[in-house]
Amino acid sequence: MPYAVISGVSSGIGLDATRILIENGFHVFGTVRKDSDKESLLNQFPDHLDVLMMDVTDDEAIEAGRKFVKESIGDETIKVLMNNAGIAVPGPLMLMSDEEFYHQINVNVLAVRKFTNAFLPMLGFQEDFPHTPGKIINISSVSGLFNNPFNGAYSISKHALESMNDVYRRELLKFGIDVIAIEPGPIKTKIWNKNIGGLDKYKDSMYGDLLKKADKMIEQAEAGALPVEDVSNLILKIVQSDKPKTRYIVHKKPLLFKIFSKWLPDRMQDRLVWKTLNKKDGKYRPV
Ligand SMILES: NC(=O)c1ccc[n+]([C@@H]2O[C@H](COP(=O)([O-])OP(=O)(O)OC[C@H]3O[C@@H](n4cnc5c(N)ncnc54)[C@H](OP(=O)(O)O)[C@@H]3O)[C@@H](O)[C@H]2O)c1
Repeated sequence: MPYAVISGVSSGIGLDATRILIENGFHVFGTVRKDSDKESLLNQFPDHLDVLMMDVTDDEAIEAGRKFVKESIGDETIKVLMNNAGIAVPGPLMLMSDEEFYHQINVNVLAVRKFTNAFLPMLGFQEDFPHTPGKIINISSVSGLFNNPFNGAYSISKHALESMNDVYRRELLKFGIDVIAIEPGPIKTKIWNKNIGGLDKYKDSMYGDLLKKADKMIEQAEAGALPVEDVSNLILKIVQSDKPKTRYIVHKKPLLFKIFSKWLPDRMQDRLVWKTLNKKDGKYRPV
């Protein structure tokens, strides 16, 4: 039976990736942080799921998870290692606390390297005939391609993840392990709700005028978000493909987004960002 290890399966993209992989014959090892999530997941997927209790910033929990998986699979290999757990800590770079900034980088970047390194040896290297090496899938974001103001720590973390994705891929070429980034735009998950009110504490700051409508912008972005199945269907396609692309944008207008983020000159992007923040009608249109 093929095995997958996924971080952050309590909700959203991680939960739906668990569903689609189990439906397609996988046994999933998924991480959660709360007992209640473990219980509800085991009810939902009574077979073919092991839940690992783990905060990805906790080295001992990662080590315990690694040992559990190794003991469970023995000489078998992991087919898919998916770095999904992530948070978005909003705030202007100038005003957010060091603790908030470090926490963002810790969860979305430093922990990804530790989680990857823990399970990487179990992906099988191409010398270990007869195993076919597994794949690593990193859940990045369009924020890894484009820098949004007031969500800067998140953008910085996802840009670092984009870089980590490519460095691992090139270092693992020798072992036949592929590394692929998925770059979603807005997807309907709990991450949006978690951020409602996140910028309130800056409303009396020098950015107060720009942040007045922050929650409304979040609600509007969420209202136009794509269903989580768009990501999980893509995950399955990548898993089943012999030659996947190295990165995939999941966005309502992927080509427009690419043109906007890659080819539009910086100053023109700045102007469009500024216009969006200052819209008189309060409407926010995610690019
Ligand atoms: N939704 C979007 O629009 C969107 C767009 C682009 C990229 N993404 C990325 O997609 C990934 C999944 O997010 P989602 O949208 O599915 O949101 P979500 O429903 O909030 O899921 C986030 C998952 O990460 C887990 N997590 C957070 N901090 C953790 C930590 N320190 N240790 C272990 N697990 C932790 C959460 O566990 P708890 O339940 O215990 O908090 C949860 O399982 C993230 O990397 C996010 O950046 C999402």
